[in-house]
Parts: sequence; structure tokens; C-alpha cells
Amino acid sequence: MMQLGTQRVRPDGHLEIGGCDVTELAATYGTPLYVLDEAHLRACCRAYRDTLAAHCQRSKAFYASKALSTSAVAGIVAAEGLGLDVASGGELLTALAGGAPAADLMLHGNFKAEAEMRLALERGVGRICVDSVDEIRAWQALAEELDARPRILLRANPNVKPKTHTSIQVGQLDSKFGLSILSGAAMEAVEVALSCDRLELAGLHCHIGSQVLGWQAFAQAAGELADFMAAIRDRFGVTLDEIDLGGGLGIRYLPEHQPPAIAEFVSHVVSALLAKLAELGLPEPLIMMEPGRSLVGEAGTTLYTVGPVKVIPGVRTYVSVDGGLSDNPRPEMYGAEYNVFIANRAADTPDTVVTVSGKHCETDTLFRDVTVAAPRRGDLLAVQSTGAYNYAMASNYNRLPRPAMVTVADGQAELIVRRETAEDLLACDLLPARLQG
Ligand code: LLP
Repeated sequence: MMQLGTQRVRPDGHLEIGGCDVTELAATYGTPLYVLDEAHLRACCRAYRDTLAAHCQRSKAFYASKALSTSAVAGIVAAEGLGLDVASGGELLTALAGGAPAADLMLHGNFKAEAEMRLALERGVGRICVDSVDEIRAWQALAEELDARPRILLRANPNVKPKTHTSIQVGQLDSKFGLSILSGAAMEAVEVALSCDRLELAGLHCHIGSQVLGWQAFAQAAGELADFMAAIRDRFGVTLDEIDLGGGLGIRYLPEHQPPAIAEFVSHVVSALLAKLAELGLPEPLIMMEPGRSLVGEAGTTLYTVGPVKVIPGVRTYVSVDGGLSDNPRPEMYGAEYNVFIANRAADTPDTVVTVSGKHCETDTLFRDVTVAAPRRGDLLAVQSTGAYNYAMASNYNRLPRPAMVTVADGQAELIVRRETAEDLLACDLLPARLQG
């Protein structure tokens, strides 16, 4: 196993996280189960917050809550002093339910429905990141109607393409996100925003991609934003006061993944930005970052129960587990790979190559040709680094209930998302009268 956060192998060979024996967690809460290492999550929050504070006069870390949006996670992150990036009305209400102050929220998205926009203004969301000229005009009209004065950031597209899966590269010219600096669209949008008397254009935002295992592309994007800020000053005589560098730092899914540590990442990127701003004669703005995966990803572990083991001689050994595509679509969507091991015999030598499949009516291969200690029916399979974009993207395919989630810390486990029930699965169904009786 990779040693992540508080994970360790106990003398009896069981995996322990946050001081809790995972076999006991499985017995108490059932499987599949998402286990969240609260100390690790908090340490990652502090690494962003404190490194930003050490380098900048004014800074704010935001948690991109799309990675894992639950009330308790929002509460933990807010308690660590982070704001939250919310990308829908649902994420916004979840952040508020967790106790995050509305002023510390930033609303994102390339399609903000009118109901979501109203909700944001009515609740007093602190910042809105706008993604198109249409949207800027819509905010102006709504702000007039509601007598509000929202603070907005403009999402600029810096034309930087980081090295990662193509589905999660979003900083290049050909992207649905942001307004291109290169094409002039971003400058036109600034002009429109400055002409809207109801909007306070506070600054610029960019987000170039996700699961990026280096800092260089981010430093490059930061430089593009600084250049654009200088161009805005030269053209309109306006010096913007905020820069948000987005999220995107990658995590360790496999031992060979070697992302920079959070502190190293933040200091490289911020130093590059500050140097560029100084060179351009710009004052230091409020500097923001909004990581998702690198806050919650490694803190999450999924536990499955091993079911039938099927050996096809000379071909492959299939091991079925009690979850799959519905609790983790990432292997199918992005060819994502994970580190897996038998959690109730974590000290046993991994000596058997198997392919782990989910229980769906699909070829839902979760982990192909992974080497684990020979799995037996009833074993517990642990999957590391499932905190980000697993529960967040879970579905009810085959009408499977979504799993429960617990936080673990100092030997205590707490249920933060209960397992869905049969009633939950049927809750939205309506049976027309003509089909009843
Ligand atoms: N800010 C914005 C505007 C974003 O769109 C995102 C992620 C983030 C911040 C956080 O990025 P992170 O630090 O988590 O990389 N479902 C995909 C990832 C999609 C990322 C979407 N946007 C996956 O499972 O890999």
C-alpha cells in the first residue's frame, strides 16, 4: 500500500485509518463504504491556507466542492478557514448547510440557471466567476432587479494546455470554459463588465485542468493572467484587485505518481505570479486558489467486500466486488488507475494478478491486472485515493443505493452520509393512477 495520511497496517494485518480498524468500520456501516481521513483533509487545507498566507499579503484558499460535496465536508473545510467554490445551486446549498458563510462562497459554472443566480444574490454569495458576455449582461439585469451589487471575477482562458487526460484539460483555446485572452474575447468581456454599473469587477480567474502532476503549467497560466491584468490597466486605466489561479494539482493514485507537495506547489506558482506582477509594475492583489482533488482525494478510501472469484484458466481471474461503476465511474470515464489491496490482510505479500470488476450489468472493470494477496470471498478490498470525484459522481445505476461515508479521526468514526435505502431509490417515482391497483 502507499502510506497516505494516517493509514497504517496494524499488527493483526488490518488496515487502520484515523485510528480505526477498517474491518470494524465495514462490519458497522456495511460496504461499499467511503472512509474519509479527517486529519489528512485538515492537513491539506492548512498546507494551502498557510503557504498562501506565508507568501502573499492577502490570500484566500477555496475548496472546489465539486470534488466531494457533502455538508460535513463543507463544515470541516470552512472550519479550517477556507472558502468554497460552488458550481450549482445544490453545491451552494450544501456549503451553507455545512455552515460556510455565504460571503466565503464563489459561484462558478458556464451555465448558471436563473434560479441559481437568484439564489446566489439572495443568499449573498461573496464572489461570482463569470464565464461569458451573455452571463455578464444577465447578472447586470438581475442585480438591478434585486438591487444588488455582486462582486465578479472574469474567467479568462490563458491558452495553456497542461499534461493530463484530455477530458480534464480546459485551459487551451478550444475549450467551453472561460474567455480567451488570445482571441480578444476576454478584453471585450472586461469592457462590458466595466460598463455594467451594478457589477463590481474585482479580478480575474483561470483554471487550466485537473490531476496535473507539476507546477510549471500553473506558473505559466499565472503569468498570462498578470500580463492580461497589465493590458487591462493600460487600456482602461483600471487595476484589478484579485487573481484566482483555480485548482488542478494532482494526487498519488499510484506509487509512481509524484505530484509536488502542496506547499512546494503553492510557493512555486505564487512566486512566479508575484515576480511577474512586480515586473509589470502591478500592485499585489488578493491571491486565491481553489483546489478540489488535492484537498480530499488522498483522504478518501473505498472499502468493498470481495464476492465471487472466477478463474478463466490461462486468460484472467475476475474478482467481483459489491460496488463498481455507480460508486466510481472514473476508471471507465478516464481510464483512471488506483492502488488496491486486501485490507484485512494488508501485510500479506501481493502475489496474485487479478482484474476487479463491479457488480453492474456492464463490463465495469474497476482495476485491470492488479497484483494483490490472493483474494477470497468475504475479504475487504481497499481502494486508495477515492476522496475526489467518486461519491461526487456516483449514480444509482442498476438501482444500487449510493454508499455511506464516514469520517475517521483519533480512533472515532462518524457517519457523515448515510447509505441510501430502498425508500430513497423509489422516492422520486410516481405511479400514474391508470397503472395502480
Ligand atoms: N476550479 C474550477 C473552476 C474547476 O472547474 C475545477 C475542477 C476545480 C477548480 C478543481 O480542480 P481540482 O483541484 O479538483 O483538479 N471529474 C474529473 C475532474 C473534473 C474537474 C472539474 N473541475 C475527474 O474525476 O478527474
